[in-house]
Amino acid sequence: MAFLRLYARVLGALGPERRLAAVLAVINAALAVALFAEPILFGRVVDTLVRAQAAAQAPSLAALLPQLAAWTAFGLFTIAAGVAIALHADRLAHRRRLGIMSAYFEHVLQLPLGFHGHVHSGRLLKVMLQGADGLWGLWLAFFREQCAGLVALVVLLPVAVWVNARLGLLLVALLALFAGLTWYVLGRTQAMQRHVEALQSDLAERSADALGNVAVIQSFTRVEAEVRGLRETMENVLAAQIPVLSWWALVSVATRAATTLTILTIFLVGTWLHLHGMASIGEIVTFVGFATMLVGRLDQMVGFANRLLLDAPRLAEFFSVLDTVANVRDRPDAAPLGPVAGAVAFEDVSFSYDGRRSALNGVSFSVRPGETVALVGATGAGKSTALALLHRAFDPQSGRITVDGRDIREVRLASLRHAIGVVFQEAMLFNRSIEENLRVGRPDATPEQIARALERAQAADFVARQSEGLATVVGERGRALSGGERQRLAIARALLKDPPILILDEATSALDAGTEAKLQAALDAVMKGRTTFVIAHRLATIRNADRILLFDEGRVVEAGRFDELVRLGGRFAALAKAQFMSGGSATGTAPPAET
Ligand SMILES: Nc1ncnc2c1ncn2[C@@H]1O[C@H](COP(=O)(O)OP(=O)(O)OP(=O)(O)O)[C@@H](O)[C@H]1O
Ligand SMILES: [Mg+2]
Repeated sequence: MAFLRLYARVLGALGPERRLAAVLAVINAALAVALFAEPILFGRVVDTLVRAQAAAQAPSLAALLPQLAAWTAFGLFTIAAGVAIALHADRLAHRRRLGIMSAYFEHVLQLPLGFHGHVHSGRLLKVMLQGADGLWGLWLAFFREQCAGLVALVVLLPVAVWVNARLGLLLVALLALFAGLTWYVLGRTQAMQRHVEALQSDLAERSADALGNVAVIQSFTRVEAEVRGLRETMENVLAAQIPVLSWWALVSVATRAATTLTILTIFLVGTWLHLHGMASIGEIVTFVGFATMLVGRLDQMVGFANRLLLDAPRLAEFFSVLDTVANVRDRPDAAPLGPVAGAVAFEDVSFSYDGRRSALNGVSFSVRPGETVALVGATGAGKSTALALLHRAFDPQSGRITVDGRDIREVRLASLRHAIGVVFQEAMLFNRSIEENLRVGRPDATPEQIARALERAQAADFVARQSEGLATVVGERGRALSGGERQRLAIARALLKDPPILILDEATSALDAGTEAKLQAALDAVMKGRTTFVIAHRLATIRNADRILLFDEGRVVEAGRFDELVRLGGRFAALAKAQFMSGGSATGTAPPAET
């Protein structure tokens, strides 16, 4: 049964603290056993008193004292065990909750971009928080209730049958009835709850998505529409949840009724048995005690089944993210890349994001150390994709890519990425200070190095103008900065990393002509001595490139120096003519290219 497997996994997640967990489980089991002693001893005491009364003499102290002493001892033990469990189980559960959350976090951050491309961050966050909370709750319940409950059932029932077979079997039958009912409802509601949870995840995703696009929502006056959309999803959640709740209300009512029914039945049947000499009064007292305890346990078990049902889809989602295997990862024999000269070669590389439409198709080219290579071509031609493969955001389906002659799949991922600095097409910044954003690629950078990187990226002035300078927090994704400021910070961040291979994907597209010219001069200096890939729509910025690759629909259709390609009179020549004829671009006054 999937439930049991899931529950085993929940307990398995206690892994690193399994010894303490095992000790707590044993104490718990002992506690459960000790708890049975109470009704048995109570029954014995009653029988001693009743016998004395029947014989019309005072009850014998010799018989009573050991019973009372045992009762006290068991009572004290249950208190001590209860305190020990309460103290340690909570701490253990809290520790593990944070432990598994950070494991999830680390795992998700390492999952390839292909995964993040189709799973929304809002959903991932929700899965993490609710999954960890679900685990926490189940662990606590395990130590506080489940473990003792299980022992209670396994031990109590045979003991009950042993004390009085008829009353014992009656108890077993009543219990089986309610267990059956719970099981039935569990089966009925399982699929429903999965559906509810899927809707909840949609809800998290939708709201996170809306929050991330507040500017669009406001400017397109979509507040009402978004709220309506959200409310619709919420109504769907509620509509799906209500039938599940009804079923469980039924179980809950049935369990409550069971309490009264069971105790009444035991009492009536017990009295009848007593009248026919088949049960003592003490036995009836013991059984009423057993029944109360068992029904209490039953109540707990039903609550637990209900909770597991509610949590199962969340936990399944949580574990399925944890089980996602990164397809871009180190091979076991991967060696570090070592010092990099900067030769790069693509050999017949083909890649598709979805396995159907190809984004790159048999791309081959090679670059000598220190060269500057420009990638140009229509939007969607595959330029960003080609360079994403170079730092292994994805792996190609066929062909290979080498750095200094070594297949990049055979070297350690971290060492490869260490050697490559990327200025992404969208300057992605953390909601942290400018300084923290810069130090991302080089945590130990000195203030001078930071200042120099900012200077080169033409960012020093605007950083100085910020109210808090380097300590200014830039907002989510850098929202508190202008597009050009974001771009320059992203460039400074890459320069500070000082990698032997640099990728600039439309890095200067948002800058005014004057700033771009100054930055270009600085970049020309930076590019010397390192292999640089530049993607640009404005051809003026790549005039000096050692080689230009013209991409079209995932292929390299022309390659050569600027003048060569213009002389060739092919597509690049036409493109260049169009741009320079239209005036602005050559001098850099055209609006930023569409990207
Ligand atoms: N994460 C992704 N998942 C699926 N398809 C993608 C993804 N990223 C890009 N694509 C598709 O792959 C193709 C190539 O995209 P790519 O980003 O490489 O183009 P590009 O040449 O960089 O274009 P641009 O000049 O507009 O930046 C496009 O058709 C695009 O729709
Ligand atoms: Mg691109």
